[in-house]
Amino acid sequence: MPGIDLSPLRVQFPALAIKDAGRTAVFFDGPGGTQVPQRVIDAMSHYLAHTNANHGGAFRTSRESDVVLLGAHQGMADLLNADAANEIVFGPNMTTLTFALSRAIGRELAEGDEVLITRLDHDANRAPWLALAERGIVVNEVEFDPTDCTLRLDDLAAKLNARTRVIAVGYASNAVGTINPIARIAEMAHSVGAWLWVDAVHYAPHGPIDVQALGCDFLVCSPYKFFGPHSGVVWGKYELLERLRAYKVRPAGNLPPDKFETGTQSHETQAGVLAAIDYLTELGEEFGAPFTPQFPGFSGRRLALKQALAAIQAYEQPLFEHFVAGLLAIPGLSFYGIRAFDRFDRRTPTAAFRLTGRSPQQVAEHLARRGVYVWAGNFYALAVTERLELEESGGVVRAGLAHYNTYEEVDYCLACLREIA
Ligand SMILES: Cc1ncc(COP(=O)(O)O)c(C=O)c1O
Repeated sequence: MPGIDLSPLRVQFPALAIKDAGRTAVFFDGPGGTQVPQRVIDAMSHYLAHTNANHGGAFRTSRESDVVLLGAHQGMADLLNADAANEIVFGPNMTTLTFALSRAIGRELAEGDEVLITRLDHDANRAPWLALAERGIVVNEVEFDPTDCTLRLDDLAAKLNARTRVIAVGYASNAVGTINPIARIAEMAHSVGAWLWVDAVHYAPHGPIDVQALGCDFLVCSPYKFFGPHSGVVWGKYELLERLRAYKVRPAGNLPPDKFETGTQSHETQAGVLAAIDYLTELGEEFGAPFTPQFPGFSGRRLALKQALAAIQAYEQPLFEHFVAGLLAIPGLSFYGIRAFDRFDRRTPTAAFRLTGRSPQQVAEHLARRGVYVWAGNFYALAVTERLELEESGGVVRAGLAHYNTYEEVDYCLACLREIA
């Protein structure tokens, strides 16, 4: 795998050629947003130049625009292995969609009903549910184990009861990379008749998502984290989306997804999302096919997308192992999250660490001067840095790998860290 030639893939991403500090910039900032291939930029420009219109019109550009929008919904349904395109709701970002849908779900709940959230989650999957407490909903929080940052399923089981109506949990932590056992949590939720809301924003660029195999009820992600433009997407089981009462204007459609796609959407963005899905489809056919498992029952674009994300996982895991081995050898480095190589299938390639005697921000600034782009702080996973008692002192440094990162970049980043360790 170290020998794999990424240049045919990297050349498709114009930003990956940016020069900084005398070399090509190293983008380890993916958990905050990935770079986009040229075809995404082209699709957005093409939309604006040739098919820019509001939807549902009788004239040519509106009809052509509607084809793009339907294509984007179908593309997302294929990426997530959803039943149908009308289970896909587009919006400006995950946070806005979660506030909107959680309020609609809140209309189904009675005073004294309970919602479970976790301390491992981004605040966008906490604050919208905490807000339901204003209406008499009881919101309980599941703890994580601070030694390896894994979710405590025993605590989840202890806090689950007949009044639990919703569990809101992340597929993977954007701060420390832990992947949660979603299928198991879905079983736990359904054992008491609760719905499972999954935040897959951080997980999405790192592995295949199959909402049917997971058994969840809703799943939300953000295309700008998987090589598309800034936007958010919710998948929900059709009967649930149909049942919920949306906050909407009267003339807007009453069926999903229209009733949740409030106002005019960013159509050019949906054109870009479809192009990102096309990028992944081709990746699955080329980069993915030779070394990924087969997926019985899948064919066409759904198979290619699964192969692409499985290939990404297969490439990223040893790359991350190499990175973590180098990090752990740096004197004075504290590492947060799962560090056992044999458990790397339970985490994403997102490293959270600190260096003794330097604030995370100082480390990020040093790396920035060397052309290595990482984030420092809490990344809105505030409950995580609070629980680890790191919030007051600046959180952690987060270096997140993506499939377009190379072994050379990892070694260079490690060398830059050793300079100040
Ligand atoms: C795990 C996770 N959830 C939610 C969000 C919020 O996503 P958005 O920016 O689309 O609102 C992020 C963004 O960083 C994230 O990483």
